[in-house]
Amino acid sequence: MVAIITGGASGIGESTARLFVRYGAKVVIADIQDDLGHSICKDVSSTGGTISYVHCDVTKEIDVENLVNTTIEKYGKLDIMYNNAGIVDNFGRSILDVKYEDFKRVIDVNVFGAFFGAKHAARVMIPAKKGSILFTASVASLVAGETPNAYTTSKHAVVGLTKNLCVELGRYGIRVNSISPNAIATPMLTNAVGIEPSKLEAAISELAVLKGKVLNAEDVAEAAVYLGSDESKYISGINIPVDGGFSTTNPSLSMAVKAASMM
Ligand SMILES: NC(=O)c1ccc[n+]([C@@H]2O[C@H](COP(=O)([O-])OP(=O)(O)OC[C@H]3O[C@@H](n4cnc5c(N)ncnc54)[C@H](O)[C@@H]3O)[C@@H](O)[C@H]2O)c1
Repeated sequence: MVAIITGGASGIGESTARLFVRYGAKVVIADIQDDLGHSICKDVSSTGGTISYVHCDVTKEIDVENLVNTTIEKYGKLDIMYNNAGIVDNFGRSILDVKYEDFKRVIDVNVFGAFFGAKHAARVMIPAKKGSILFTASVASLVAGETPNAYTTSKHAVVGLTKNLCVELGRYGIRVNSISPNAIATPMLTNAVGIEPSKLEAAISELAVLKGKVLNAEDVAEAAVYLGSDESKYISGINIPVDGGFSTTNPSLSMAVKAASMM
């Protein structure tokens, strides 16, 4: 299997790259953090894995086109395209305080980046009549009001793109799915909220529906392995929550009852 993972130099992308290699895939990680990307490749290669790094800003179509072409030149095919690169803007701001440039930056990376990735993957997967295109969406595609407006908007768009492409590309044997993790203390989130990883992880676990386990990037990577592999050969068009049931519930009634009983 040959896989591209965007945003592969950190967090979920890095974990997925390492896990894909462990399962025997040849992986190309694409990111804008060149030093991190190269050091992951060095580390993974030293244990015998096949991995390489391509500088790719997913907001630039020419970079994404080059990423896919480089992969094809190197390995002759592309089986899995994981469009994972993403950013979040500042939490807790009213829409009145959000500038056009802030909103656009999130849409550029999370939506246009996903679009370019899917487009150039489809370009090489259609003639091959197979492939798996994945996106990292978020629980923000399922539960509103917990993340900034641009981020929530972008992740809903990713799910829309997933479903539309599932229908368009199904005739070529290409499957398209998205993964929606709950909050994980990766650099994207810890930097955005300004809380150190261990504290944030503890707070997230405290509010989780599923107790006794901590969600981490490897759990998302496992879902990506499944959706990328032939084990999921008839699964397409879905948005899998990796959230321990978080998005299935709304605790406001029980919170109201608890608050009222303390009045
Ligand atoms: N951490 C969470 O709580 C969480 C929850 C749900 C979904 N997600 C999603 O998971 C994905 C991965 O995020 P993460 O949490 O691993 O964060 P992360 O910051 O650890 O990793 C994101 C990576 O994307 C890269 N990136 C950013 N802009 C890019 C661009 N223009 N071109 C190429 N690469 C770019 C970054 O350099 C970084 O390496 C994102 O799409 C994010 O929205 C994260």
